[in-house]
Formats: sequence, structure tokens, C-alpha cells
Amino acid sequence: MSDEHAIGFMDSGVGGLTVVKQALKQLPRETVYFIGDQARLPYGPRPGEQVRAFSWQMANFLMRKKIKMLVIACNTATAAALADLKAKLPIPVIGVIAPGSRAAIKASTSHRIGVIATAGTIKSGAYYQAITNQQPGVTVVSEACPKFVPLVESNEYHSPVAKRVVAESLQPFKTHQVDTLVMGCTHYPLLRPLIQNVMGPDVTLIDSGAETVNDVSSVLSYLGIANTSATKRYPDEYFTTGSPDQFAAIAEDWLERPDFKVTHVEIGD
Ligand code: SIN
Repeated sequence: MSDEHAIGFMDSGVGGLTVVKQALKQLPRETVYFIGDQARLPYGPRPGEQVRAFSWQMANFLMRKKIKMLVIACNTATAAALADLKAKLPIPVIGVIAPGSRAAIKASTSHRIGVIATAGTIKSGAYYQAITNQQPGVTVVSEACPKFVPLVESNEYHSPVAKRVVAESLQPFKTHQVDTLVMGCTHYPLLRPLIQNVMGPDVTLIDSGAETVNDVSSVLSYLGIANTSATKRYPDEYFTTGSPDQFAAIAEDWLERPDFKVTHVEIGD
């Protein structure tokens, strides 16, 4: 069996592009439809109920475009809405927290794992639960890094300010002696060199989004819905509820694609 329909990816902003980048690499025949809700980000400080409502609006937008699978390429939205979307949508829905947790357990030898994420994700306890359910006895140290998403979204992730903010925000981890750190927000891999520099070479960084694409690939094969044709049937499409220029500037840098095309859409009530 082959299914040529697109896979839908959704995030509060450009962070989900870290997942898309892996998907484009690992699954080149799959069409990508992506939506970033930049008009309403950051999701991190918002109540879970509101993040769930926004997630449904993004999911419904992608469903109208006839996607065959939905990837919640946002940790805050995964924590708030995965269970609900999974239960109610007629297609497979994949979040980023379980794959990231699994990879962290596999990587850690000291059984001391750090998690950095938005306030909403940390408050939900989703990483703590996912990690300790799979491996009881592991120590999980979590910190919210609320300044990281605005740095990425304002295209400042290469700047000296970003270097200083990352160093200050990760200071607590210097004493926790974790050997593995989960980047529990899909925006954070854009800050990866700065994070690795502060944590040192002995700490393994886990990119929860990249790990997720392994799950996407397995589910496509298991359900027999991978596109087995030689090429994509439909072109990739990118949408933002915010400024296409701002989105394109980051996408061109991160995905290394000049003349990136992105369309503005309204999805709210
Ligand atoms: C945010 O909008 O605060 C970031 C979303 C995420 O958790 O990936």
C-alpha cells in the first residue's frame, strides 16, 4: 500500500521546523504541510486548556487539507493536547515527548537526566512521568527556560545576547551533574551549539523532535501508509498565522533553502 497524502506538522512557531528538517532528510518522499501559530506564541506561559484549543484549531486546519498523519511538533502542545487529539482524530497522531524521553533513557548511563522546556511543559510533568514510567529510579531535573523561544523567534539565536541568556539559564544544571539533557522544546535545537558549549562535551543533548521522526517513520511503515512512489505527489506547503517574512527569514537559514515560500493564514475564532 502507498499513501501519497501529506503529513501535517504543527507548532506554536518556527520551532517545529527542527522536526521538519529531520523529516525532509529521513522521509524525502513524504509531503510536508506545516503550520506555525506565530500570532499567538509563546504557548509556554499559556494555560493548558487554551493551548489545547489552539492545537485543535491548527489540527482542524491541517485536516481540511487531507493529511494522513499529524505530528505535534511542539512540546507544550503535546503535553496539553496529545491525548485529546489522539482520541478524537481519525488519523495517527504523534507527539514529541515520548520519543524524547525514550532517547534520553537510552543515552544516560548515570541515570541523572535533565529536561529544559517551556513553563507549560515542565508544569505538566509530562517528561518526568514519561521518563520515570519507562525507568523508575531515574533522577529527573527540570528547568523552564522561558527566554529561549523569544530569542529564536526574533531570529537572535546566533547573537551574543543568546549566548549570555543560555549561559545564565543553564547555570542550575552545572551543579546537578546530569549526563543527558533533553531539549524539551522544538525551538531549542536552534540554540544547540550554545547549549552544548555551556553543558560541556560530556553531556548528551537529546533533540526530542529529531527522535520523533524515527517514530513517524515506524508508524508509516507499520500502518502501510508511507509514500512508496519515487517522488512526492504534492509540493510541501508552509503556513503561519504571523508574519511570512519573519518566518521565511528563519526557515531559509535553518532549512538552508533560499526563496522560502510561506503563506499567512487565519485559524482563530
Ligand atoms: C512555545 O511556544 O512556548 C514553545 C512551544 C514548545 O514547547 O515547543
